[in-house]
Amino acid sequence: MKKKITIIIGGGIAAYKSLELIRHLQSENFEVIPVLTKSASNFITSLSISAISKNKVYTDLFDLNDESEMGHIQLSRISELIIVAPATANLIAKFANGIADDLATTLILATDKKVLLAPSMNVRMWNHFATKENIKKLKNYGFQFVGPNSGEMACGEFGLGRMAEPLEIKNKVMNTFKISNLSNKKILVTSGATRERIDPVRYISNDSSGLQGTSIANALLRKGAKVTFITGPSNIEKPVGAKIINVETAREMYDAVFKNGPYNIAICAAAVSDWYVENKNSYKIKKKSSNPPQISLRENPDILSELSKSKNRPELVVGFAAETDELIKNAEKKLTKKGCDIIVANKIDKKSTVFGNAENKVSIISNKKTIHWPKISKVEIGNKLSDLIENLTN
Ligand SMILES: Cc1cc2nc3c(=O)[nH]c(=O)nc-3n(C[C@H](O)[C@H](O)[C@H](O)COP(=O)(O)O)c2cc1C
Repeated sequence: MKKKITIIIGGGIAAYKSLELIRHLQSENFEVIPVLTKSASNFITSLSISAISKNKVYTDLFDLNDESEMGHIQLSRISELIIVAPATANLIAKFANGIADDLATTLILATDKKVLLAPSMNVRMWNHFATKENIKKLKNYGFQFVGPNSGEMACGEFGLGRMAEPLEIKNKVMNTFKISNLSNKKILVTSGATRERIDPVRYISNDSSGLQGTSIANALLRKGAKVTFITGPSNIEKPVGAKIINVETAREMYDAVFKNGPYNIAICAAAVSDWYVENKNSYKIKKKSSNPPQISLRENPDILSELSKSKNRPELVVGFAAETDELIKNAEKKLTKKGCDIIVANKIDKKSTVFGNAENKVSIISNKKTIHWPKISKVEIGNKLSDLIENLTN
């Protein structure tokens, strides 16, 4: 049976290009299910789309026949992928805000499938802060994008906003379906902060939210990896589809890491406490008029270092470094000392509140080279890192 792709055609001048896109997708043996917005029907007719796609064109959320034949929920799940081309500024704004006031937007809100957007609009609409915010949101939600490109527009202006060419969109679709070499690889992701108890109500910890580790795990899951996700306490929604192991202390994390291995790849993103409280109290320490209690610290086992030097060493070990001073120099030192393959380094200072923030600016350090990535969302860092790992492993 042919794989199905749903294409939502928005009300933009580039709507005519969707016909060529449908032909390209058919030539790759996909069945195309077209959905046309009300505005789009001003630019292109259902008749031509139906003739080219050889399928029924869905237009109305409240069409009794459509709803009894294939309801909007069913329509949102039937395909392997949903493409929106052209993705107009209006559709992008609605998707970013969870609006569901017609078939196209309801379908997107209800889907659990990958969504690929091909934006197309006037350069000023594209550069508007509202559109920029919406795009940022959608990237964080995991929507994928192709284009827009720069060039002359139908409105006579020049700049970024031209829809990607149908062939370019088809190539992006084919990449989406490519079986990743990370598929079925067993990958460890440690995430979040650990807690070291002082007494039943107090602990030593750090500000790590777990967002970065979760984003990495989600990106790897999208590539078909088998992810073991070992996390300290965190309020971030856990990656669906991963084997989840909740721990509290660094020593619990250490035990969980070695009990659940071996792994093909390990990504140690957790902010693990260096020390634990040796003289932990089993009752709540009372405030006395005498001196404050003395806390005696002892070093925790080093998960990254031991994993890198273990007999069953993963093919690739990635560690994280958060440094307040001499970021690159200290991260390079950490790479050598721990024996891992890559360090993802991020600077902690008064201005850059890395922990708990949705964005970060990191450098990727290996023995061969150092790459500096711009400030991007942690979700994008997860995507870029999983692409990098995919390219580095067999
Ligand atoms: C001639 C014409 C061309 C248009 N082209 C675009 C376009 O390329 N991109 C866009 O975002 N909006 C464009 N618009 C505005 C959209 O049609 C309008 O925002 C509409 O509400 C979008 O509907 P949709 O949500 O079904 O896409 C155009 C409008 C007209 C009249």
